[in-house]
Amino acid sequence: MKHVISPLDLTVQELEYILTLAEDMIAAPDKYKDVCHGKKLATLFYEPSTRTRLSFEAAMMNLGGNVLGFSSADSSSASKGESVADTIRVISSYADICAMRHPKEGAPLVASQYSSIPVINAGDGGHNHPTQTLTDLLTIKKLKGRLNHLTIGVCGDLKFGRTVHSLIRAMIRYENIRFVMISPEELRIPDYLKKEVLDAQNIPYSEVSVLEPVMPELDLLYMTRVQRERFFNEEDYIRLKDSFILDNKKMKLAKEDMLVLHPLPRVNEISTEVDDDPRAVYFEQAKYGVYVRMALIMTLLGLEV
Ligand code: NCD
Repeated sequence: MKHVISPLDLTVQELEYILTLAEDMIAAPDKYKDVCHGKKLATLFYEPSTRTRLSFEAAMMNLGGNVLGFSSADSSSASKGESVADTIRVISSYADICAMRHPKEGAPLVASQYSSIPVINAGDGGHNHPTQTLTDLLTIKKLKGRLNHLTIGVCGDLKFGRTVHSLIRAMIRYENIRFVMISPEELRIPDYLKKEVLDAQNIPYSEVSVLEPVMPELDLLYMTRVQRERFFNEEDYIRLKDSFILDNKKMKLAKEDMLVLHPLPRVNEISTEVDDDPRAVYFEQAKYGVYVRMALIMTLLGLEV
């Protein structure tokens, strides 16, 4: 049985299959409306979520399946001290597939070791978020037309931002990818990612702390919020939270076909005036999240139409 804990749990070929399937779902959603009839998805969310949980649930409903689950640790037996290992053993007999979000890095991996149903990591602490990456790849493929030959700016909280960590792991498998990492010194990409992923594969990247000078060279700008919940103290968060604010003045420096992505939620890092710029595609990106999750659920359950 296959679990998706890291973006690398899917080969480039499997990714391609899922993205193509998602594109077909966008074109002909009716074809898929009964494919998960009689199947259940459990959403086990130990951390807050809007898009990820609701898009998983919408995805299962669009496939004709059912959903069950909880949306906070407080409303589950975790508050009584139950381990994820015990929880997943039980959920395995209630559902056919599960999506788990947890504040601790590695929790979905542990769950997968005790599970008899596929486990999808819906975000584990500051570590990985593979289904956001699938969403990002579908957005890039559809709106940019390619996944290779790209200079990608990633901006904001690169230390704690799991969406960035997963995106980097996934994108380096395509040809001629270059990263420009834009963050305050204290929120730079973790050393393990530099050593084990970027340097190990000779991926070109630069690290800067000012956005304006690099804007003209970017094909994509992936903005992220400063991850308040992962900070040890509030003063550091307050000092760093508004390090970068993308506005129309900065957008003027960018290529005419540069795209702005953001996994959302946005706090202050993109001024709302940017929303009307046709290059701002983050709301469209959120819409694609439903289709890639439909395609992933179908694939992991081994279903076809
Ligand atoms: C992201 C997450 O949870 O990591 N949100 C999401 O899933 N779309 C990004 C974030 O919370 O900043």
